[in-house]
Amino acid sequence: MDKIIIVGNQPLKGSVAISGAKNAVLPIMTAALLADGVSHIHKVPDLRDTRTMVRLLEMVGAKTTYKNGTLSIDARGVDTPVAPYELVKTMRASFYVLGPLLSRLGVAKVSLPGGCAWGPRPVDFHLKGFEKLGAEITLESGYIQAKSKRLKGNNIRFDFPSVGATGNILMAAVTAKGTTVIENAAREPEIVQLARYLNKMGANISGIETDVLTIEGVEGLSPADITVIPDRIEAGTFLMAGAALGEVTLTDVEPSHLDIVLDKLDEAGATVSVGQSTITIKHGDVIKPVDMTTGVYPGFPTDLQAQWISLMTIADGSTVVTDTVYKDRFSHIPELTRLGANLQLENNTVFVRGQKFLIGAPVMSTDIRASASLVIGGLIAKGTTEIGRIYHLDRGYERLEEKFKKLGAVITRESE
Ligand code: EPZ
Repeated sequence: MDKIIIVGNQPLKGSVAISGAKNAVLPIMTAALLADGVSHIHKVPDLRDTRTMVRLLEMVGAKTTYKNGTLSIDARGVDTPVAPYELVKTMRASFYVLGPLLSRLGVAKVSLPGGCAWGPRPVDFHLKGFEKLGAEITLESGYIQAKSKRLKGNNIRFDFPSVGATGNILMAAVTAKGTTVIENAAREPEIVQLARYLNKMGANISGIETDVLTIEGVEGLSPADITVIPDRIEAGTFLMAGAALGEVTLTDVEPSHLDIVLDKLDEAGATVSVGQSTITIKHGDVIKPVDMTTGVYPGFPTDLQAQWISLMTIADGSTVVTDTVYKDRFSHIPELTRLGANLQLENNTVFVRGQKFLIGAPVMSTDIRASASLVIGGLIAKGTTEIGRIYHLDRGYERLEEKFKKLGAVITRESE
């Protein structure tokens, strides 16, 4: 296993190119299974999660090549409707294959992502949606079995605008017989791009960018090419580091996907300037404490909650941060505390008391965004920080330490 070593408190300066969005490319990769041909996806980041998804696509019978950021998926040989536990347990997004396999093969056997269908990180919205489309769903020793000769359009209303459930049901509804209306659909940019990609493949989806999606079922889809949108969460991660430590310009970024984040950084005293596909952030004299509550898009992303807390650990005052999307996404709190942060967790709210500085220490990654918050904490802290188990980080960030090194950070990767 690898670890990252940081000698912190160095100024950051320069520009960094943002990679394609992990959470857009993963469902787009599974959508390619719907077409009996070869699709080309451009600006695919080289991540553990995209490599895991490639393995899954090949397990179900697709062939793939990946060169210079372009992933080609030949889905002509898709014939195996099974996503095994040993793979799904490493990446919840594997569950996205259920819709395409069900639509393409009329059957799908996908392991539960972890916990149970109704437990932590449940998939009940997905399953109820598939049943509404006429699929027969059974649960057998940790696997979801879904069957349907031909899915039929129906009206579906999500209790919560789930990103994954919206994507999965979309990919099943596009070739269902008749009309499907999804109410309370997710509006995240990644789902917007998935819907646009499906339409490029010949689907008939309207209401894109709204929370009501109407899908007229079509007979079949054809392969299509697409360039993945920039990763707004990677961009936000760099913005928070820049707000603390220097002057950083992001290129190949979509500023409109980060409106609320830019507003909050401005409130915190950073100077933000926006170009067509660039954002420049310059740290302020002090970091002002700014309360934040996460929300579904266009709210403040839960995937930037941990990174925001890292920034607020050295704010000139106290901050209250609440996550309304995940009530239990706080494994980074004890680790940031090891760096000297003053944090109080109560249910899904963190009370942050700003300190003058953090002090480097050995810490442990626990999930993708928690590890990103520890990198920011290590960059801020005086002295040396060692971050263990960074395979979590590598699931969602492409060579993050190299990108920070280019900005002047003293940061290296070593094997543990
Ligand atoms: C996607 O996960 C992202 N992952 C997550 O990013 C992100 O945090 C999340 O959306 C919220 O924005 C990918 O896109 C691959 P949800 P997803 O379904 O689809 C509950 C990262 O760091 N829920 O919108 O799993 C769920 O428990 C990852 O890149 C149900 O109750 O998120 C959660 O509280 C982490 N039943 C809330 O909804 C369901 O059937 C949001 O989940 C589904 C979800």
